[in-house]
Amino acid sequence: MAQEARAREAIERVLLSEEEIARRVRELAGQISDDYADADDLVLVGVLKGSFIFLADLARRLTVPHHVDFIALSSYNRGTVSTGAVRMIMDTRSSISNRHVLVVEDIVDTGHTLDYLLRTFRARNPASLRVCVLVSKPERRQVEVQIDYLGFEVPDMWLVGYGLDYADRFRTLPYIAALKEEVYR
Ligand code: PRP
Repeated sequence: MAQEARAREAIERVLLSEEEIARRVRELAGQISDDYADADDLVLVGVLKGSFIFLADLARRLTVPHHVDFIALSSYNRGTVSTGAVRMIMDTRSSISNRHVLVVEDIVDTGHTLDYLLRTFRARNPASLRVCVLVSKPERRQVEVQIDYLGFEVPDMWLVGYGLDYADRFRTLPYIAALKEEVYR
């Protein structure tokens, strides 16, 4: 079955359309480009896997020079429930010390992943450290985390598309949609 047909069966409703996301990404890129106009060494660090689509779109809209790097983190899950423990699977390729670092995340849920990442990165003495997140679920937060640029606040539903997955599926849908409860319960 084609991906779109499979997705239609699993999806409750589309929350953020391709156009809405594109518009917001353009706004965020404009804001970031203004804020970093004088920064000489900006590095975007995408958190894999989820951020790869957001980062690709955001980076191509930036008008300031920048580098791109990635880090891979994973939370220890029990079924679909996060235990709060995070592990690093892959570190950045280049050092972030004395550089302006912008972390790019697809989603902040409990906050544990970003909390771990920011603590790890602060210890490496970057010139500055900010965070850009596409979607945040404030109702789910267990630890407060810094978000400097936010795309959208979303309700507590299981979201897929634009980098977000369910069991590694639906990541490359061009929109963000809520899954039907029966799919993940
Ligand atoms: C997702 C997402 C964030 C994290 C947020 O990653 O990309 O990194 O969960 O959740 P938290 O705020 O509760 O920590 P996931 O561990 O699902 O890995 P993936 O990006 O490879 O899908």
